[in-house]
Parts: sequence; structure tokens; C-alpha cells
Amino acid sequence: MKVTERPSLKAFNTFRVDARAGLLLTIETEEELLSLSPFCAKRDLVLGEGSNTLFAGDVPGTVFLNRIAGKEILEVKDKQVLVEVGAGENWHQLVLWSLKHNLYGLENLSLIPGSTGAAPIQNIGAYGMELSSVLESVTAWDWQKSAWVTLRQDECELGYRDSRFKSRERDRYLITSVRLQLDQEFRPRLDYSGLRQELAMEGSSRPTGRAVSDAVIRLRRARLPDPAVAGNAGSFFKNPVVSRSDGSALLADNPDLPYRLTGDSMLKISAAWMIEQCGLKGFRNGDAGISDQHALVLVNYASATGAEIQKLAEHVQSVVYAQFGIRLEPEPRIIDFSA
Ligand code: FAD
Ligand code: EPU
Repeated sequence: MKVTERPSLKAFNTFRVDARAGLLLTIETEEELLSLSPFCAKRDLVLGEGSNTLFAGDVPGTVFLNRIAGKEILEVKDKQVLVEVGAGENWHQLVLWSLKHNLYGLENLSLIPGSTGAAPIQNIGAYGMELSSVLESVTAWDWQKSAWVTLRQDECELGYRDSRFKSRERDRYLITSVRLQLDQEFRPRLDYSGLRQELAMEGSSRPTGRAVSDAVIRLRRARLPDPAVAGNAGSFFKNPVVSRSDGSALLADNPDLPYRLTGDSMLKISAAWMIEQCGLKGFRNGDAGISDQHALVLVNYASATGAEIQKLAEHVQSVVYAQFGIRLEPEPRIIDFSA
């Protein structure tokens, strides 16, 4: 286990904001966890690759950097393949590994930054698919009980950008591995119209898994700013989910507002569109700004602080609320231990 005192966290978050921790422990094996002192939710933090975290302040205690590696095929039955993956494995490298082994189910989630262990935290999703369609179970260290636990998918309370790990039991577990149910047979998931169009452009009526992954990668590169160029955490706000009656009222006033129907007949409406309609796309205050490429992405152009980005996010929330009566909810974890 690597131990660093008073480290800068700048290299450990994709917003590339500067913050400090009391201590940084890089954990590479499950055994190392057993030698650690208990986690204190008021001072400490588990971190993957920091691609959904905004440091609005320092971490007074310890950052547990999860770098537990390993990918293993556990079982093959009726073309269904159960795979166990260490929480510290990079998500996109896992997607590429699955394609190399002719295992399917992850292609729509190509190029999502971050670690595999963080994927269940907000049930990562993109291009018409969420982790919930392949997650079998999660193994974690339960800080509260000082014990290993395995939670089946139906116990993880996965929702749109949500889970028990993100909401009601935040900081209770350190996820060490996940099990995914993959398929030896490729079944394209092409509900997302933009993905269908992208594949149609290359004249592919029966795409391969690799072709779907490549198309998703192209779409993502064209739409989202690269954190290596301007620090960001992807979408900064969730798309609001509203009742049919509230949605109908909004659509009557704003007929161009993009929306989708959810499984439970709610309306998921586009936060990016509302931000753009408020004239905020491309808005910049010092080094903190709203991307001119995608209105849902807040960016650090050079040396914005996390607090400046948080302040900008609050400004966006109040402007959108004033115009549409909708309160936008941040997607990333905002770290502010002083609050
Ligand atoms: P971190 O930021 O390190 O952590 C996020 C949260 O999870 C924190 O609360 C942390 O405490 C907790 N956590 C992390 N690892 C563990 C663990 N092992 N055990 C317990 N808790 C843990 N997300 C999507 O869903 N869809 C997208 O399309 C998408 N696109 C993105 C595009 C860009 C350019 C960027 C920068 C981000 C995007 N994201 C997207 C968000 C992000 O990629 C995901 O949320 C990802 O799963 C975060 O992984 P991470 O390891 O970086 O998490
Ligand atoms: N739009 C605008 N202005 C913009 C950008 C988009 O009006 O600047 C409109 C588009 O015209 C489109 C709609 O907003 O009609 C939706 O845009 P997009 O397809 O880019 O998707 P999104 O809703 O903005 C969501 C996820 C992304 C995910 C994509 C693709 C959330 C909060 N975001 O974005 O996830 O990659 O769909 O499936 O659900 C993330 O979570 O970090 C993330 C990037």
C-alpha cells in the first residue's frame, strides 16, 4: 500500500482542481483494507478516478484511492458469461477487454471515464443503456459492520444516476469488485436514435459489437469536451424527471423542449436545452465556465477552484429555476467537508 502525506488531489480529479487530503492511501489488494483504521464519513473519502467528483474544499482525513485490479471469467453457461472485475480497473479498458474476448453487453457504455468500482455508485448510463442491465452483484467492505458483503443487483437500489451507495448509504461501503453478466451472443441495443443514425451513416444494417462501440466513441468525442483539454466531470446536472402533468405544462410553454418517457410514465426532460435557452451555454466567469460544446458540462479552463465551479453551478440552478420553475440536481459528488 502506498501512503502519501498531505498530497495534492489535482491529478486525481478530472476537473483538475487543486485540493489537499490529510493522507492518501493507494489500495491495491483487498487484504490491505483489513489493516486500515475505520473510515470516518465526516473526514474521509473513497476515490476511484475522480471523474464524478468536485473538490469544493480539502479532505481533512484520508482519501482511499481504489486501485484493486483483476478481471476473471468465473462461469460460462448457455452463452452467458459471469465476469468478476476489480474495482480499480478502468471502465473503458474493461469494455475493450470484453470486446476482445467476444463478450457483449458493455458496448453502449464505451468511453465513460472512471473506475469499474464507481460504476454502480450512480448506475452509469449512456446511449440507451445503464449498468443495471449487466450488473449481477457488488462486493464491498462494509465500514459500519467491519465485514465483507455481497449485494445482489436488486439490493443495490439502482435508478437513473442513483443507487443506495450514492444516496441513502453514502460512504458506508468501499466497493472492491463487481460481477457482470455478459453474453457471447451480440444483441445490439439501438433504442437511442442518435446511435442508430450514426451506424446508418456508415451503411451498417447489422452492426457488430465493435462497430457499436466505435460509433459510441465517435459520438462521445464529437459531443463532450475532453477533460484533458478543459477539466470537467461530464454532465454536471441530472436530467430532471417530472410527472406527466408537470411535463405537459412545461411542453405547452416550451414545445421544443426535448424529453423522453421513462418506464414509469414520467418525463425525463433535457437539462442541457433549458440551460442553453437561458443563454448560459459558453458563459464564463474567470476560469470557471459552461462548455460552448455542451450546455450540461461545467468546465475548468485553467485554474478555477472547486468553490468557483460550485458557485457557477448554483448560478445555473437559480437562472434555470427562475425561467422554468425546475430545480436542477447536480450529478457529481461535491466534496465540502466544512458544510
Ligand atoms: P469518482 O469520481 O472517483 O467517485 C465518484 C463517487 O463514487 C464518489 O462519491 C466516490 O466516493 C464513490 N466511489 C468511487 N469508487 C468507489 C468504490 N470503489 N467504493 C465506494 N465508493 C466509491 N457518467 C455516466 O453515467 N454516463 C456518462 O455518459 C458519463 N460521461 C462522462 C463524460 C466525461 C467526460 C466525464 C469526465 C464523466 C462522465 N460521467 C458519465 C461520470 C463518470 O464517468 C462516472 O460517474 C464514473 O462512474 C465515475 O467513476 P470514478 O472512478 O471517476 O468515480
Ligand atoms: N442539447 C442542447 N444543448 C446542448 C446540448 C444538448 O439543447 O448544448 C439538447 C440536444 O439537442 C438533445 C438533448 O439536449 O436533444 C440531449 O442531449 P444529449 O444527447 O447530449 O444527452 P444529455 O441528456 O445531455 C445524457 C447523459 C450523458 C450521456 C448522454 C448520452 C445525463 C445527465 N447525461 O446527456 O451522461 O452520455 O445522455 O446518452 O443523463 C454524464 O452523466 O456525465 C453524461 C455525460
